[in-house]
Amino acid sequence: MIDVGSRDVGVTSPACAPVNPVASMGPAPTGMLAPARSLVILLAATLSLAACRQDMHDQPRFKPFAESDFYTDLRSARSPVEGTVARGQLHEDAYLYTGKMGDNPGDFMPFPVTQDVLARGQQRYNIYCAPCHSRVGDGNGVIALRGFPRKPPSYHTDRLRKVPLGYLFDVITSGFGSMPDYASQIQPRDRWAIVAYIRALQLSQAATAADVPAGQKVPSEPLHFREPGSGATLPVVEMKPTETEPAAEESK
Ligand code: HEC
Repeated sequence: MIDVGSRDVGVTSPACAPVNPVASMGPAPTGMLAPARSLVILLAATLSLAACRQDMHDQPRFKPFAESDFYTDLRSARSPVEGTVARGQLHEDAYLYTGKMGDNPGDFMPFPVTQDVLARGQQRYNIYCAPCHSRVGDGNGVIALRGFPRKPPSYHTDRLRKVPLGYLFDVITSGFGSMPDYASQIQPRDRWAIVAYIRALQLSQAATAADVPAGQKVPSEPLHFREPGSGATLPVVEMKPTETEPAAEESK
């Protein structure tokens, strides 16, 4: 609302400012006849409508795929000038966006894998992939168990353990068989983080005592579930302090 003198004028858009005739008239002057009053209202309404132009709203434009006789090929949509790149679409590092070297999947990460990258990958994996593939990647996710037309394969097969990293990236980017693609939901860097995490899952499910750093003990307590019955929750492994690592309480 704009304060004009002491009267309120309703404004809905800069191009079109309908005036509330009654409000802007203020209290009816005493002695004013009813017909005269309604005439003033009508006049005010007509005047305010006459000033209303919708140029900004109704400017000439083409709808997508509309025909235009201005160009010889009759297409209203024009191709960008050769060599121009839309903002944010200069995908210079092709490997980061495709996982491919030429036509073949590459087998390296486009950026170094740190603890943070793996943690991000785990989080994204648990959100986007675990519902079908399960948190451990055995293909027993809750969607698969409730009747997805095709059960996802386990990642813990010789074939999938050996596929190049770029292949896994491409499955997320383009989909695979009955699995939809996740290109629009998951940013390229997050897709790579998931790829790294799948490799960590594969290692974790096929690890042997030889993979444990020398001197570190493998916990041998029975596993139990943090949330009983949820199925998808990973068992919590309670690590007992080893002789070489005194318990935190003792060191305090
Ligand atoms: C809606 C369920 C669903 C989700 C969510 C899902 N997948 Fe899948 N995935 C499948 C199914 C089903 C297959 C098997 C498709 C087929 O063989 O037709 C599959 C296959 C795969 C394969 C194996 C490809 C091969 O060569 O055999 C990989 C790797 C994979 N998915 C990774 C992922 C990753 C990573 C995510 C998360 C970003 C994910 N999937 C999310 C259902 C899903």
